Amino acid sequence: MRLLALSGSLRARSSNGAVLRSALTFWDGPAATADIGALPHFNPDLDGEDATPPAPVAALRTAVASADALLVVSPEYAHGVPGALKNALDWLVSSGECVSKPVAVITASPSPTGGDHANAQLREVLRMMTGEVVSAACREIPAISPKIDPTTERVTDEATLADLGVALSHLAAAAAPLTP
Ligand SMILES: Cc1cc2nc3c(=O)[nH]c(=O)nc-3n(C[C@H](O)[C@H](O)[C@H](O)COP(=O)(O)O)c2cc1C
Repeated sequence: MRLLALSGSLRARSSNGAVLRSALTFWDGPAATADIGALPHFNPDLDGEDATPPAPVAALRTAVASADALLVVSPEYAHGVPGALKNALDWLVSSGECVSKPVAVITASPSPTGGDHANAQLREVLRMMTGEVVSAACREIPAISPKIDPTTERVTDEATLADLGVALSHLAAAAAPLTP
């Protein structure tokens, strides 16, 4: 089964990037990370039947279409979803690649709340896009900073790592029956 991951942080030393890379080690199969930073701002004039989507949009749609499951890992900005990630999701609304796709949402934050606002908003957006949000695979990770090794940029906290493994196993279990 093929997994596509999207990170809501464009920051080079992102803690959510570290969570994403650590989570991918629990996926038994090919996995890739989408480059959402290259996407233009969503504009309905560039979308639709008569429009040719910009190349980064076409690449994202192809990557999502060929994935059996999606993993969204994101920080929370001002109690919301980072604009770059919402922009990427907006490009996928009409084209339909997310329909019935199992998806896990993980938010990580230095704060005790674990990015709960952004997590809830992402789940709502993805449900509206008729993705299959796998609740058992979703996580809000609080106080992320000391749980990451800044040298390797991976999660080192044992409990968090174990829980990421559980989350990814739930995502794989949801994707397996749908995978040809
Ligand atoms: C503009 C901005 C707004 C933020 N708003 C929130 C917030 O609402 N809730 C929160 O938990 N953290 C917030 N943070 C802190 C981020 O969680 C923190 O910077 C985190 O490390 C970003 O994720 P990253 O390391 O993956 O880039 C904010 C950070 C920035 C730069």
